[in-house]
Amino acid sequence: MYRIAVLPGDGIGVEIVPQAIKSLQAIGDKFGHQFNFSEALIGGAAYDAVGHPLPEATLDLCRSSDAVLLGAIGGPKWDDLPVHLRPEAGALLPIRKELALYANLRLCTLFPGLLHASTLKKDVLQDVDILVIRELTGGLYFGDKSREKTPDGGEKATDVLTYSTLEIERIVRFAYQAARQRSKRLCSVDKANVLESSRLWRETVQKLALEYPDVETVHMYVDNCSMQLIRNPRQFDVIVTENMFGDILTDEASMLTGSIGMLPSASIGGEVGLYEPAHGSAPDIAGQNKANPLATILSAAMLLRYSLQLEKEARVVEEAVRKVLQEDYRTPDLAEPGKKVLGTAEMGDLVAKTIREI
Ligand code: IPM
Ligand code: MG
Repeated sequence: MYRIAVLPGDGIGVEIVPQAIKSLQAIGDKFGHQFNFSEALIGGAAYDAVGHPLPEATLDLCRSSDAVLLGAIGGPKWDDLPVHLRPEAGALLPIRKELALYANLRLCTLFPGLLHASTLKKDVLQDVDILVIRELTGGLYFGDKSREKTPDGGEKATDVLTYSTLEIERIVRFAYQAARQRSKRLCSVDKANVLESSRLWRETVQKLALEYPDVETVHMYVDNCSMQLIRNPRQFDVIVTENMFGDILTDEASMLTGSIGMLPSASIGGEVGLYEPAHGSAPDIAGQNKANPLATILSAAMLLRYSLQLEKEARVVEEAVRKVLQEDYRTPDLAEPGKKVLGTAEMGDLVAKTIREI
């Protein structure tokens, strides 16, 4: 019996999360596991209901669960709230920090059949499969922030960027372990030609590299990396980088997979892991049964793999996603002439049915 905390959140979050639950239920029936789903509030929905985007009850539920499945948070309705009550700064960043989720894994896999969905040339994309490991609880996101008035009548704003050896070591070790299980190549991304925190980052990686002689280590500046991801993405297997660079590079890398609607993520390192699609709450298409649930379903596969150690089950979910795409089913974000376009709920049903049939 596994306890799963379910936090649908805002926008399309409430539409895509139920689709991942269908897949987990299908896995439960097929393999004889019982999943107990308990729902809690987060984001704008929580603010509207109880006046805070991250209620204590939600954190308590997460802490007493085996894994957390999150949809998406935020939307224009809450953009003008004071910053500590906004869904991003008031809920998403604190939940990462509170649950000590320092390692964020984002998988950029090009599924067969989606080669044409990307705006990039297909010969560059064939077989792209990149794991980006983003440090998630440090750096600019969590450094001191301040504003002061200046004598010229303007203002001065400051965001502090700090990394400690310990913070760098734990994420980089994590990345080396991951690289060992893949193709044994690790690319560490920094801006060591400019930033002191990046110089410490690079020195720390260089020291750790000696402990992993079986893994090839490459160092790359973040500006070069953003160019190389588009120029020749196949050179990458595992990328490790700090919080802000990881945020930017993963949005870029999502385009290698055809749609940001295909990018799952796992945030782990603490006592309980949190799984969410890498895209946001997409208010423009919310409530229209148009959103692509596959990133959330693939996040559920990561949940099975990393929090419940159910590797075989995780693979079945991924296989089912591959199969529906191969059979030419698409959500509107991936629609092309000749493909069969399904709504969010219908795509969720089809993946769950396929899981049962595999
Ligand atoms: C992400 C998102 C968040 C981030 C935002 C919503 C705060 O862009 O998970 O990548 O910047 O980390
Ligand atoms: Mg982002």
